Amino acid sequence: MTTSVESWWRNGVFYQVYPRSFQDSNADGVGDLNGIVQRLPYLKALGVDAVWLSPIFPSPMADFGYDIADYIGIDPLFGTMQDFDALTEAVHTSGLKIILDLVPNHTSDRHPWFIESRSSRNNSKRDWYVWHEPGADGGPPNNWLSEFGGSAWEYDAATRQYYYHAFLPQQPDLNWRNPAVRQAIHDVMRFWLHKGVDGFRVDVIWHLIKDAEFRDNPPNPDYREGQPPHQMVLPLHTTDQVEVHGVIAQMRRVVDEFDGRVLIGEIYLPLERLVTYYGRDDRAEAHLPFNFALLSAPWNARAIEKIIGDYEAALPAGAWPNWVLGNHDRPRVASRVGKEQARVAAMLLLTLRGTPTLYYGDEIGMHQVAIAPDQVRDPFEKNVPGIGVGRDGCRTPMQWSAAPNAGFSTTTPWLPLPEDFLHENVANLEADAGSILNLYKALIDLRKKWPQLVSGDYTPIAADGSLLLYRRQGQGKSIAIALNLGEEPVSIASDAAGLSGEILLSTSLDRAGEKIDGALDLRGNEGVMIGPPS
Ligand code: NOJ
Repeated sequence: MTTSVESWWRNGVFYQVYPRSFQDSNADGVGDLNGIVQRLPYLKALGVDAVWLSPIFPSPMADFGYDIADYIGIDPLFGTMQDFDALTEAVHTSGLKIILDLVPNHTSDRHPWFIESRSSRNNSKRDWYVWHEPGADGGPPNNWLSEFGGSAWEYDAATRQYYYHAFLPQQPDLNWRNPAVRQAIHDVMRFWLHKGVDGFRVDVIWHLIKDAEFRDNPPNPDYREGQPPHQMVLPLHTTDQVEVHGVIAQMRRVVDEFDGRVLIGEIYLPLERLVTYYGRDDRAEAHLPFNFALLSAPWNARAIEKIIGDYEAALPAGAWPNWVLGNHDRPRVASRVGKEQARVAAMLLLTLRGTPTLYYGDEIGMHQVAIAPDQVRDPFEKNVPGIGVGRDGCRTPMQWSAAPNAGFSTTTPWLPLPEDFLHENVANLEADAGSILNLYKALIDLRKKWPQLVSGDYTPIAADGSLLLYRRQGQGKSIAIALNLGEEPVSIASDAAGLSGEILLSTSLDRAGEKIDGALDLRGNEGVMIGPPS
């Protein structure tokens, strides 16, 4: 089992901070870098190893920082470059790593590169973005759709061409076929790597290259009313193009110029496509192509068992797995699977083979917060209202305490807090020995004590009904994990299932040390980990 320094991203637990919502230190209702510094002791006590920050760069905030106007600055809303340096130092002093969000697919329309690019057809940066002549009827060049609604093409009246934007019109796509664009973003990467950041999570990395011939996307025969409108076509010619792999391999080489850094890719693709983003032996790509399979998995034991098996089987030799339960784009896990199952989900995430990424607040069971129509901030929800695509509900302020504004800010936060923050908050849950927060801590702690949980083999154990059973083993020791994904209690003949030893941890935190003798009884919504007898 590998435990070398270079493998911190294999051994560690990642934690995503959405900076706007973590901790406000200057009373403007929006989180900031100094706020994150204040909360580092919390992250250290939780036991995570790396902190990934969603974008903190200067931005008009049309998409809350995913529209960048300067890749090598800090938005004043979040602080200054000095604040960033202080944060990096504090993170490292705490023994943690810091990962930045790199958004190379598109800039803000206020980025100087785009302002130049749109200034005239002859500008030297014209070809830095994806410009095209109008279609035959004067309309958009083809049927490509924006993920945030409508055509992906925006007409520029001054230069009488269209530009492509996979997201908002305020987020024009860069032209990654242009070597100058590659060079410019590689320099951005080097700027931050020289500053000491430990890696990048790369936004929509599978979008970077689009079809050179601009062919229409085919209609999606499975499209149903109620799905986001961009799903009416299949993204055959706009994402996952074969040439993107060369682009990512080049990015990886930049990361590899520095010791011990990591490249993580945001990729929503079926597992068999996802794993191609590890690259090949002679052309490495992402260390960790994010595995989002659990975000949309039907919450039942057989479906999840199949996902794990399919993923394990699809991984190329030497590829390191990873798992994600939540992020700033998807409904909170506690709302997807329910409050009770959120504990089982935590045990699943932290006992599967590979690197787990936690989304801030999931460790205290934060649920999707209801957002009144006049409080909607997310441009996706504004453009495509009423079908449940809004992302504000999973981006609400971290609930630190029962103090006003949950201890997040001394003023009204940018997004509302739910009423239950008075109970569901860090201070309260830290003091409650049986809380989900203490479960997360215990799970992370066990990963540090038992290397089998990090890099041991994954072996499924045959089970049926609501039961998910597997073993993690290595170095002559084995830990069995038994998860009840249903509400009804289940009893397992432990000898037949090969379960023996004693309970290391139950999701209800009250069974450690219990010997397994003949039968393992699980309560509804309970998971246990069974280790060798002590
Ligand atoms: C993916 C990010 O996670 C999401 O929040 C953003 O809106 C889009 N990329 C566009 O950058």
